[in-house]
Amino acid sequence: MIKPHGASALKPLVVADPEQNRQLQAEAETLPSLLLNSAAAANAVMLGAGYFTPLEGFMNIADTMSVASGMRTTNGLFWPVPILNLTDDIGRIEGAGRIALRDPHTDGNPVLAVMNVASIEAFNSDQIATIIKQVYGTSDAAHPGVAVFRNLGRYCIAGDIEVLNFSYFRDEFSDTFRTAVEIREEIESRGWSKVVAFQTRNPMHLAHEELCRMAQERIGADGIVIHMLLGKLKKGDIPASVRNECIRKMVEVYFPENTVMVNGYGFDMLYAGPREAVLHAVFRQNMGATHLIVGRDHAGVGDFYGAFDAQDIFEHLPDDALEIEIFPADHTAWSRKLNRVVMMREVEDHTPDDYIILSGTRLREMLSQGVAPPPEFSRPEVARILMEHYRL
Ligand code: ADX
Repeated sequence: MIKPHGASALKPLVVADPEQNRQLQAEAETLPSLLLNSAAAANAVMLGAGYFTPLEGFMNIADTMSVASGMRTTNGLFWPVPILNLTDDIGRIEGAGRIALRDPHTDGNPVLAVMNVASIEAFNSDQIATIIKQVYGTSDAAHPGVAVFRNLGRYCIAGDIEVLNFSYFRDEFSDTFRTAVEIREEIESRGWSKVVAFQTRNPMHLAHEELCRMAQERIGADGIVIHMLLGKLKKGDIPASVRNECIRKMVEVYFPENTVMVNGYGFDMLYAGPREAVLHAVFRQNMGATHLIVGRDHAGVGDFYGAFDAQDIFEHLPDDALEIEIFPADHTAWSRKLNRVVMMREVEDHTPDDYIILSGTRLREMLSQGVAPPPEFSRPEVARILMEHYRL
């Protein structure tokens, strides 16, 4: 099986042994505590689940600046996006060596993780501006990821963590939320060796379904892992529960049994385009995928990135950066001429009118008026679930 990133074995930071977990929980109740922001909580969940192997916790300023500028930590580990625990309020934790990190998303703010505080440093505004420009490629506050990052706080709380639980993800998405450890185990038990992962934060329409099929065929993959984001999105995006239902229905009806795993991970969308695509590749390698589909405007938003910037970045990574390979896909859409979904660069003589393409806005309009999109765009079973969602 493909090796985890930067380590010979996965390093899930969750304390899996029930007795040890209980003891840590009891200790945590005695520690000074910090209420995490959503981004830091999501990082803790990813660290706990092994997706961020080989990291042991949150980065300090030196690692953050080094990752932002050159995609390596100060000790040389390839890593594309700073993994941070930021806050503006250090009143309760100043001087503490060990602190409890509390979950902002669960009633009563239970402890999510315990941290050995290695340092508390303050970013200056130049450093914040540099990180934003390097990670998101823009400083525009209209970018939803930039807007979130700007409000996370300027104190950087760095250090190793031990994770107690997976926040609300395990309960709310019991069929779908899986750790990197669990996905690796399942891939192994299915006997798959070539595995293609599909990242998504949307319900899947026909173009996405076909993209998965094309990737599987062309790679000669034994199976596909549809790996959906279950964390926070920007306003207006479709909730994870609805996307989950759409994707499960599509797989049940249109894919042969035992060829697709439908799973998800607890992370907030960054909308960081190319850098996020590389992070996506890192954690798909950790969960055991050999390939990641990177299509049009992967992890992008609005017009902030070129349609294929998230593929181009992989061309410029050092050879030893990652073992996982990407499957770079061109824009896929239904061709009226050929009566099938095609990759645009692979067909000749097509003009824009030869494709069936709906903008997100137009699609939302149709669905909320109870008008089903054409079957060349969306499977009827998927359209029904989405219309129901927009009707409510
Ligand atoms: S993402 O933010 O998670 O990338 P989304 O769920 O929309 O968003 O896309 C999932 C994957 O499908 C990404 O790799 C994206 O590039 C790809 N993709 C989405 N739509 C198309 C399309 N029409 N043609 C080619 N690739 C696409």
